[in-house]
Amino acid sequence: MTRLPSRVTLYEVGPRDGLQNIDTSVEVEVKVRFVEALAAAGVSAIEVGAFVSAKAVPQMAETDAVYTRLRRHAGVRYPALVPNERGLDAALAAGVQEIAVFTAASETFNRRNINASIAESIERFRPVVHRAREGGMRVRGYVSTCFGCPYEGAVDPKRVREVTRDLFALGVHEVSLGDTIGVAVPTQVDGVLELLLPEFDRDMLALHFHDTRGTAVANVVQALRNGMHIFDSSAGGLGGCPYAPGATGNVATEDLVYALHSMGIETGIDLDRLVDASSLVEARLGEPLPSRVLRAHLAERRRAADP
Ligand code: HMG
Ligand code: MG
Repeated sequence: MTRLPSRVTLYEVGPRDGLQNIDTSVEVEVKVRFVEALAAAGVSAIEVGAFVSAKAVPQMAETDAVYTRLRRHAGVRYPALVPNERGLDAALAAGVQEIAVFTAASETFNRRNINASIAESIERFRPVVHRAREGGMRVRGYVSTCFGCPYEGAVDPKRVREVTRDLFALGVHEVSLGDTIGVAVPTQVDGVLELLLPEFDRDMLALHFHDTRGTAVANVVQALRNGMHIFDSSAGGLGGCPYAPGATGNVATEDLVYALHSMGIETGIDLDRLVDASSLVEARLGEPLPSRVLRAHLAERRRAADP
């Protein structure tokens, strides 16, 4: 077994993956405060929004305004999701310095999500990645449905490897492997990583677990045992995907910060301030967010205030 890493990067997707899938469209001002609070908590990469069709995902419609108003912290990365050249143009106009393109390991999901076959989406990304890299931007690639598809069921890990290969061949810096519908279990994590790690560097692979069935923290721990050290998570456990029926939030950032810190692994994130960031969204939505550590932390605060 590989030694556990001593430090992990948590790539925060709450403002994008989290807020894209709720019934309410959260105001620009609240989104800006949320992102700023996450940066103040020590989060070093925050996916702020998406430059996608407002008809497809209305919650992301004002992403440009969020970027324009945001006060950026030095040393923090603020990537945005971009599906095509039009999205790249909008991202550049809003001052975005890092982007992420997104495709999948299963055809039906990709068609529903971005109205393209996997091969078509790779071709669509070619000029996007080329232009972004020429402009000095960092580019991430997502592969959705790596552990199962809501329409096709089981997904062959070899397909995950092929799509990952195609994205790296385009010139992306990092590929994030998505468990879009939260079906993965630790043995499956081993299976996918066994196939990918002989070919791709751990420094260039991230894991993106949704916690639909409560297996996400176990999957992260299993990935740590394989030496992986970049994980996507969302504050409060907000999240989902509009094209993945039944999928719930990403693994909660609080749940990972608690588990990792307790295991002696650094994240650079202050849990107390992270809870403040999530509380801000919770107050706006008017209902409890799913993170268990967030709930426990808030209960402890109440006990401390009223012993
Ligand atoms: P399309 O219909 O094939 O494209 O959609 P189109 O070029 O025919 O355009 C359709 C309409 O969208 C047109 O508007 C375009 O102008 C507009 P209309 O004429 O109908 O008024 N449009 C745009 N508007 C704003 N920004 C753009 C843009 N491009 C076209 N960049 C398209 C293709 C990709 C645009 C569409 O399907 C789309 O926007 N999909 C969004 C999908 C999405 O955001 N999904 C959620 C994020 S992915 C995810 O959550 C998974 C992830 O978390 C990992 C995991 O969990 O697995 C990353
Ligand atoms: Mg996701």
